[in-house]
Amino acid sequence: MRNSPIGIFDSGIGGLTVAHALKEKLPNESIIYFGDTEHLPYGEKSDEAIQNFSKNIAEFLERKNCKAIVIACNSASSVAFDIVKKTVKNIPVFNVIDPVVREVANKCNSCKIGVIGTKATIQSGVYTKKIQKICSTAKVSAMATPLLVPMIEEGFVNEEISHKIIANYLSNKSLANIDSLILACTHYPLIYNEINNFYGGKVQLIDSADIVANFIFLQLEKMNLISKNKNPKYQFYVSNYTKSFAKSAKFFFQEEIEIEEVNIWN
Ligand code: DGL
Repeated sequence: MRNSPIGIFDSGIGGLTVAHALKEKLPNESIIYFGDTEHLPYGEKSDEAIQNFSKNIAEFLERKNCKAIVIACNSASSVAFDIVKKTVKNIPVFNVIDPVVREVANKCNSCKIGVIGTKATIQSGVYTKKIQKICSTAKVSAMATPLLVPMIEEGFVNEEISHKIIANYLSNKSLANIDSLILACTHYPLIYNEINNFYGGKVQLIDSADIVANFIFLQLEKMNLISKNKNPKYQFYVSNYTKSFAKSAKFFFQEEIEIEEVNIWN
């Protein structure tokens, strides 16, 4: 069981930022990654659709004998965490929201926290609810920034046009005077520097990938599930293969990877 792979899924390839952080923190773990590129973007889909896709993917990862499942997508973590837990009763399931909320809310005292993410994530209200459950005096201002995902996927990063789109969103009045900003989407680590430049380093940016990887490491350690495998295997699946995904995957995982298409919906 210890040497079985960790299953990670996302709507597409953004979750590779979490897979990469996990590989750095847990270098002996085998990873099976599934990106639902056929149904991307989840951020624009209904809760029911996201729940249905997530359930199917969790069953696929369970069939692959994964010892744990990581929902490396904020949209799916927001609306499908409970369904995934019910689907795979015998293995631990992690989302990308709870570790971040704990980290932020435990350090906060009447602070103002900004959250940016997809429409599905923001409309779920999950960050506000979970943060205020831990810190009732926290003010949370959550805003959907739907243009950022296609912008990043098209490679518009560190360019004049991306600076303008980011500045336009972050200048919104609702985000004025925030102490910290949660980057509540798996794509956003790729624009961390641009966002940081916008705030001139004065707002603390919370990037979930490393926080989630640390959290999973501690949980697996508690469950005695850390692998000691010297030759871990990495497998990457997508539901719809395109050359452009294969090319962008390298950008998100920070190394060359081979991606295979698999049909899990029958
Ligand atoms: N992976 C999604 C998330 O983190 C962003 C892309 C999408 O909308 O599917 O919310």
